[in-house]
Amino acid sequence: MQRNEMHDYVEELQGFGTHGIPRGRGAAVLRRFTSHGMRENAKLRSTKLLRPWSRRRAEKVAASKRPLLLHLGSGTHYLDGWVNLDIVGMGADVYWDLRDPLPFADNSADGIFCEHTLEHFVLVGGIGLLSECHRVLKPGALCRFGVPDFGKYILSYAGDRTELESLRPGRPTPLLAVAEVVLAHGHRSAWDGETLSAVMENAGFVDVGVKPWGDTAFASNPDSISRRAESVYAEGIKPRR
Ligand SMILES: C[S@@+](CC[C@H](N)C(=O)[O-])C[C@H]1O[C@@H](n2cnc3c(N)ncnc32)[C@H](O)[C@@H]1O
Repeated sequence: MQRNEMHDYVEELQGFGTHGIPRGRGAAVLRRFTSHGMRENAKLRSTKLLRPWSRRRAEKVAASKRPLLLHLGSGTHYLDGWVNLDIVGMGADVYWDLRDPLPFADNSADGIFCEHTLEHFVLVGGIGLLSECHRVLKPGALCRFGVPDFGKYILSYAGDRTELESLRPGRPTPLLAVAEVVLAHGHRSAWDGETLSAVMENAGFVDVGVKPWGDTAFASNPDSISRRAESVYAEGIKPRR
């Protein structure tokens, strides 16, 4: 290992890297001098301030969109035809902190998709979000969640580590690569297909199944190609009563 490799790695982990959504020179300078945590807190605070405006916006889109398909935590994967929700600064249709109750009426949505966002919440927050999805979906409507598959990482760590090295190459040690999945990028919980489907069933969804990337009952596959290698998905239906 190079002498500075661990130092560079830790600095990158702390979010002082200059990469992110390209938004011009000002944003790049801001990124250089602020941590990921500082920027996320500022975005979350702005999202809270805009709540009354966002609620009206959500009511407006809910009244006009047919079908009403919700994409939670859209980030850079903006989906046309969906209502994309994320915090301020992420180019979404509706700015919303997903730890709060969703700004949609009971039994109003025709489908929900959420990819690589659940792991940003503590487990109880994720359970709350799935319950909210169940509340706003129409009976018979489909819910699809995708997460980084922590199970895949630990199996590879305990095995020949080939997949681990291919998914997160060049880390100072294999353990640090595994740890990133739950401790870096603002992640706060660990998931695999079994846990995801258990939480969906706990929220009241039925016919819950673990799915690979791209295997979906949605008419058009919403999964992001960039998430293909490391993710596991689960889909369930809100019962018709
Ligand atoms: C890893 S990105 C995934 C983005 C996109 N779904 C994808 O797969 O490329 C996680 C997303 O969750 C969003 N997020 C994190 N905490 C959130 C919160 N409390 N409320 C709403 N969105 C949040 C982030 O802003 C970010 O866009």
